[in-house]
Amino acid sequence: MIKKLMQSVREYKRDSILTPVLVSLEVILECFIPFVMAELIDYINPPEVLATRAFYFLPHLVGTPMVVTGVLQYAALLVAMAVLSLLFGMGSGWFCANAAQGFARNLRADMYASVQRFSFANIDKFSTSSLVTRLTTDVSRLEMSYMVIIRLAVRCPLMLVSSLTMAFMTSVRVAWVFAVVVPLLAVGAYVLFKKVHKLFTRVFKKYDRLNRTVQENVRGMRVVKAYVREDYEINKFNAASDDIAKDFTKAERVIALHHPVVMFAIYLCMLLVAVLGAIVVVRSNAGEYLTGTLTTGGLMSMVTYVMQILMSLNMVSMCVMMIAMSSASADRVTEVLNEEPTIVAPQDAVMHVEDGSIQFEDVTFRYSSEAQKDALTHINLKIPSGAVVGVLGGTGSAKTTLVQLIPRLYDVTEGSVKVGGVDVRNYDLQVLRDKVAMVLQKNVLFSGTVAENLRWGNPNATDEELRQACRLAQADGFVESFPEGYDRFIDQGGVNVSGGQRQRLCIARALLKNPKILILDDSTSAVDTKTDALIREGFNAYIPEVTKIIIAQRIASVQDADMIIMMDNGHIDAVGTHEELLATNAIYQEVYASQNKVNGGESHE
Ligand SMILES: Nc1ncnc2c1ncn2[C@@H]1O[C@H](COP(=O)(O)OP(=O)(O)O)[C@@H](O)[C@H]1O
Ligand SMILES: [Mg+2]
Repeated sequence: MIKKLMQSVREYKRDSILTPVLVSLEVILECFIPFVMAELIDYINPPEVLATRAFYFLPHLVGTPMVVTGVLQYAALLVAMAVLSLLFGMGSGWFCANAAQGFARNLRADMYASVQRFSFANIDKFSTSSLVTRLTTDVSRLEMSYMVIIRLAVRCPLMLVSSLTMAFMTSVRVAWVFAVVVPLLAVGAYVLFKKVHKLFTRVFKKYDRLNRTVQENVRGMRVVKAYVREDYEINKFNAASDDIAKDFTKAERVIALHHPVVMFAIYLCMLLVAVLGAIVVVRSNAGEYLTGTLTTGGLMSMVTYVMQILMSLNMVSMCVMMIAMSSASADRVTEVLNEEPTIVAPQDAVMHVEDGSIQFEDVTFRYSSEAQKDALTHINLKIPSGAVVGVLGGTGSAKTTLVQLIPRLYDVTEGSVKVGGVDVRNYDLQVLRDKVAMVLQKNVLFSGTVAENLRWGNPNATDEELRQACRLAQADGFVESFPEGYDRFIDQGGVNVSGGQRQRLCIARALLKNPKILILDDSTSAVDTKTDALIREGFNAYIPEVTKIIIAQRIASVQDADMIIMMDNGHIDAVGTHEELLATNAIYQEVYASQNKVNGGESHE
């Protein structure tokens, strides 16, 4: 998992390595500053011990062993160290920000690329809202913990260890205080960590649920309004939000409690060290010890080390918590990265579609291995190139499922589907899908102009070709009535055109692919019957060689077809022309009778 995620670091490797290196240098300097400070204090304090100090030679180097010169030189050294440590700190912060941002950016890009390779079956597995959360919230969380890992997780333990070392080097007699306090605090931090971690894990799960509610609601805002469900939705949202707030408050309370306790421990420790240290200093000065003496400066640096040790101990536990919290995010992100597209083209893919003939050979299909039953069973079908085929059947009879196999949006479970005499699994995916144009039942337009949307079908289409396709789809009339014509802007999801207009634009978009097979999945359901008939007439007149498969609710839409397929509960009930089915098929007769009784009545899915 870690290895998979690290692949997204790429060009930010340099920054990711520089950050911990600089941070280490910063820490080392920070630990030496109190030490030099102690030297400075002792330099001016008891002159007798002067000769024993490490930096005694410094003033002599300049030649004037005057006390003031010495002080100035210590000061210069201290300033230099402080400035250097500042520079290292700033540098590590700079590289850290670069590295984390870059990592997150690459991670998002990698996930996005992975999602783009998804087949319909892959998409079925992840819900849309979960993919959105993974691409946004989860990546942000990983970015945060990446920063923690390359900076704080290096800084704090290193600070802890080097401060402890320095403290023991300064005075073993005093430093044993840490041997008592540090383990105590570590245990405390661990207990706290367990508690908060549990709370946060729960909060994040609830966050996902909240995200889902929000996305569902905002996307379905029109439906919510139409059903006057605003109050219900507001209550639902507030309940979810309150729930999170409660858990968060609990977690924050524990954390809030933590800070004063840590500060108390720090001051207590300082006090202990100060008192104990003072005693040791007095006795040292009185010459009571042969070894392990402590000077006033040493005592001062000890107090600083107390602060550094306990602060970094505290931060270590925070780091562990942050990292643990993002481990769920890491799981969710790698899941997307590792998802193998279920549909890929073979190595030596066929790059040419001969004609628009279609053949189903004993096809059985199941949406997923967990699905209860087969969506299609034993389908055998032969459609010659250029035929007009109607598909009828009740809602859920697997009409959509049947035609989705032709452009290989899903793979058959058993049997085979052939287009132009070649199994669809042998084609290059783009070649196949360019030649098999399908207008999906749940069609969508993207935000952009009408012309941009149409050019999804063919990026190189000329303006004349756009107009021609729109004429065939009966979309030219309303597009030209827009003041901006083909430059009319379509809002996200195509909400500023009517359902029937959107359907016709989608048909035009499919026509621009210049396909050999055109599949319309209930694509004229929102178009009036007259326009519907005009579209079909246009097809027969202008693109007679294209195989046309028309899924419809109205018998009138398929009456003139060369063959009509009656679907029922995942299998083909009957195949024939209008006359044949009217004579022999019970379901067909029934549908025909009901639709004619109410005078070409329309039923919608
Ligand atoms: N993506 C999917 N995952 C699982 N089951 C599905 C999916 N799409 C459709 N189904 C199921 O397959 C059956 C046929 O659906 P569908 O082909 O959409 O029917 P129709 O287009 O005739 O209304 C239904 O029982 C439906 O619940
Ligand atoms: Mg359908």
